[in-house]
Amino acid sequence: MLSEAKSASGGFNVKLQTGNPDLGNRINESKLKKIINILNLLKEQRGFDFTGYRPSMLERRVQKRVYSTNCGNFDDYLEYLDHHPGELDNLIDVFTINVSRFFRNSLSYEYISKIIIPELFLAKAKENDNSLRIWSAGCSFGEEPYSMAIIFNEFLRKEESSIKLNIFATDIDRKALKRASEGCYGFNSIEKIKFGIFKKFFTTEGDQFK
Ligand SMILES: C[S@@+](CC[C@H](N)C(=O)[O-])C[C@H]1O[C@@H](n2cnc3c(N)ncnc32)[C@H](O)[C@@H]1O
Repeated sequence: MLSEAKSASGGFNVKLQTGNPDLGNRINESKLKKIINILNLLKEQRGFDFTGYRPSMLERRVQKRVYSTNCGNFDDYLEYLDHHPGELDNLIDVFTINVSRFFRNSLSYEYISKIIIPELFLAKAKENDNSLRIWSAGCSFGEEPYSMAIIFNEFLRKEESSIKLNIFATDIDRKALKRASEGCYGFNSIEKIKFGIFKKFFTTEGDQFK
């Protein structure tokens, strides 16, 4: 469905449509096939399937690795991958965007703290269940699971609850997981943390925060 709305000032039109806009993202079919071969290898070897990503995005990101490995084209790169299995990690890297922060979406965290957590604890109490498991599925450098740990910890302390809490954090990016386990962050990651929480849960080492 496509409809148009004129801006209040009449200066420009806004196109409203269902589905993805056609932003000129098409790439030629033979190039796409080669990229799919590369992605299939990644799927076979590592189990990660990126074939659902936008073709133009796939092309840009694979091309980045083609340049960085000094391969002339996608065919050469596929052969390069055969001989350099470690390159698969670099390929995964270009597909994964690790941007994260503590309390990244403050409204969501507010909602989790004020609504979700009390409801969860109430449900657990009704079921006489004393354990709770939380999963941060794409945890990047760890800001999300640690933010969760902080808000749950605050609630547990306030309610004097003895519930056994386990927080799991996973990511397809091994390098991100390694950094998550180090738990060391720059200012950008921590800038949304309230001062009281920061004082309670963090220590400062030079320009790093743990
Ligand atoms: C933009 S970050 C978001 C991090 C965090 N969830 C947040 O909202 O702050 C997305 C993370 O998801 C990871 N990721 C992407 N696809 C994944 C998958 N299929 N399984 C696990 N992690 C995935 C990426 O490696 C990346 O670290």
